[in-house]
Amino acid sequence: MRLSLRFLIPLALALGAIAYGVAPLVDEMTLKWFVRDLDIRKNLIASAVQEPLVELLTDKARDRVRLLRVQELFARILQDERLFALGFCDAGGKLVYRTATLPAEVACRDPGVPGEEPGRLLRQQGGTLHVGASPVLAEGRQLGELLIVHDMSFVERRSADTKKYLVYLFAAIGAVIALITVVIAELSFRGWMAGIKALIRGQSGAVSPEPKARELRPIARDLEAMVRELEAERRMRDESQISWTPENLRNILRDDLKGDEILIVSNREPYIHVRNDGRIEVQRPASGLVTAMEPVMRACSGTWIAHGSGSADREVVDAQDHIMVPPDKPAYRIRRVWLSKEEETGYYYGFANEGLWPLCHIAHTRPVFRAADWEHYREVNRRFAQAVEQESRTEDPIVLVQDYHFALLPRMIRQRLPRATIITFWHIPWPNSEAFGVCPWRAELLDGLLGSSILGFHTQYHCSNFFDSVDRTLEARIDRETSTISFGGDLTEVRRYPISIEWPPAPLAAQRPVAECRAAVRAALGLGTQVQLGLGVDRLDYTKGILERLAAVERLLELEPGLVGRFAFVQIAAPSRSSIEEYQSLDIKVRAAATRINGRFGSPGYQPIVLKIEHHDADLVYTYYRACDICCVSSLHDGMNLVAKEFVAARDDERGVLVLSQFTGAARELAEALIVNPYDTEQCAAALLAALTMAPDEQRDRMRSMRSLIQEFNVYRWAGRMLLDAARMRNRRRVTGPRDGAKMSGLRHL
Ligand code: G6P
Repeated sequence: MRLSLRFLIPLALALGAIAYGVAPLVDEMTLKWFVRDLDIRKNLIASAVQEPLVELLTDKARDRVRLLRVQELFARILQDERLFALGFCDAGGKLVYRTATLPAEVACRDPGVPGEEPGRLLRQQGGTLHVGASPVLAEGRQLGELLIVHDMSFVERRSADTKKYLVYLFAAIGAVIALITVVIAELSFRGWMAGIKALIRGQSGAVSPEPKARELRPIARDLEAMVRELEAERRMRDESQISWTPENLRNILRDDLKGDEILIVSNREPYIHVRNDGRIEVQRPASGLVTAMEPVMRACSGTWIAHGSGSADREVVDAQDHIMVPPDKPAYRIRRVWLSKEEETGYYYGFANEGLWPLCHIAHTRPVFRAADWEHYREVNRRFAQAVEQESRTEDPIVLVQDYHFALLPRMIRQRLPRATIITFWHIPWPNSEAFGVCPWRAELLDGLLGSSILGFHTQYHCSNFFDSVDRTLEARIDRETSTISFGGDLTEVRRYPISIEWPPAPLAAQRPVAECRAAVRAALGLGTQVQLGLGVDRLDYTKGILERLAAVERLLELEPGLVGRFAFVQIAAPSRSSIEEYQSLDIKVRAAATRINGRFGSPGYQPIVLKIEHHDADLVYTYYRACDICCVSSLHDGMNLVAKEFVAARDDERGVLVLSQFTGAARELAEALIVNPYDTEQCAAALLAALTMAPDEQRDRMRSMRSLIQEFNVYRWAGRMLLDAARMRNRRRVTGPRDGAKMSGLRHL
């Protein structure tokens, strides 16, 4: 409406102005026409008057009588309303008869001037007069001239009327033109808007990234450019945002993803129901993946699809195998997928944990690949793809696929839900291409992963290894510049997203002050209050370097006998994958190492190694973090290692020292830790000693710096960055068309 007015008013004004400009021209023209008409009229009157006038003029009557008669004749003629005055000039050019109205300025012509003259205009105060003269003839002789004066005020009246009508006409034409233009503009504007909206919603019906409507193509390109600019801006905003909170994450979901549906798939479930002494208990598994994803899910809601592995899991779900969690404050739901013993053995213990786990971790444990395990792995991935399809309420959910248990799942989801945005995160390292190349199903694994829209690793190094593996194995188009791989019609972005923990960590809320934790733990372990404490928290896994850590403690006690009785090391080890031989043998070796060291340096009431091979709740683990002086993370190879980050987060007193393996992803971020090579026992022992003797100020400086980094780079940022990238991708697809659009637009920018 405002647009119409903005257009209509100037147009009407312009036309009005034109009308006013044209009016004088019209005046002049109509005047000429009227003068010509009056000339003709004058001649008509003259010829009509000719006969009676000649009769009177040639009558022998006396002058006085003749005068009266001529005046009578003139008065009769003057009844014509347009005639203003009459006069008669004799042959000598003398005005002999006249009506009273004849203006004084009207005079007789010079008798010597031959022929007739066109009428002339006489402008007076009361208006314009047309003055004409016609000869009066009798038998070929000119008796004189009849002066005929017409009143032209009617011309002015008509001209004013004409002018008025002209303005009205132009204004009306203007209005009609404007109206038609506005209607047409409005209609095409609506058409355009509908087209653009369809374009933005991704309904252009285009198979190619270009919309069907030709006129929309430049706009589509502009929009695409704009979207890219916004994306860049948003990335900057994302990077510069210091405080990432669950609230931010919810905002991203609401604003950037417009409340789109979120599904997570992982093997390990975040809450496990187990039967213990006839009662159902809820356990939180020892899993870096769960530690990271659980707070994200609490913030995002949605559905978490996972293997129901607890002994009481089936008892607590509803008919659709759903259960709301966390139990005390339900925020999202778990959909449990049931696996048979054989499936679990082949898929989980076999291919995932005897094949892929040692394949990806360089820990010198040989991977085992069995065809039967591979079949189960494929089948279970298919089962989870089916569960994703069943759980998704929309055709384009965001699916977060977690870890090495589901390398085939992204492709399988893509086949069932082509419009889904699939973000796969590989929580463990990706090996170099030679190491990966030993896997008999390497091509299938890569193909499966390349069904993802986004594939995430902890470090750039793992991304590069993945690119190399694809390069060696598949005919794919790789662009390291844009971090994209185009394969089988899909475009996958391969990016680095270093995982982290929630800040502040939930278990910290229930903790007592550090001094109390220290005292409580020492009392529980039967240690004196002055005993310094080292801590290791891991799953009992050969990649964690637990044996190497114990060897370093042993070496420390050898080198520093004064520490015997004044230093103890607590190793918490959650039993893990215990039906696998390698894990069983590790269990035996760790116990043996602890026994050996305790035998060498222990005494009644003092054991330098306190081995706790059992499940510990997060609250208790945090109490240990707060109670110890050193936390030692000595993984031989680790994607990230969240224990290192949890320890730092637990120390709000800014005390304690982190000894950290250089082969963890965390070592790239936590540079203020004492970084060690776990294979170098001497170095590790020296680091433990340095940690035990580190001045409180130095401890504080290092802790403070690491704490601020984790606070800033917390798990909400990790998830937020992936979700923002997903939002960017979805936006681009809306502009450039469905899946192909995302693909093409990526390629166009190669
Ligand atoms: C690692 C893996 C996770 C796994 C966790 C615990 O952190 O990346 O996917 O959940 O270990 O292992 P588990 O086999 O007990 O799930």
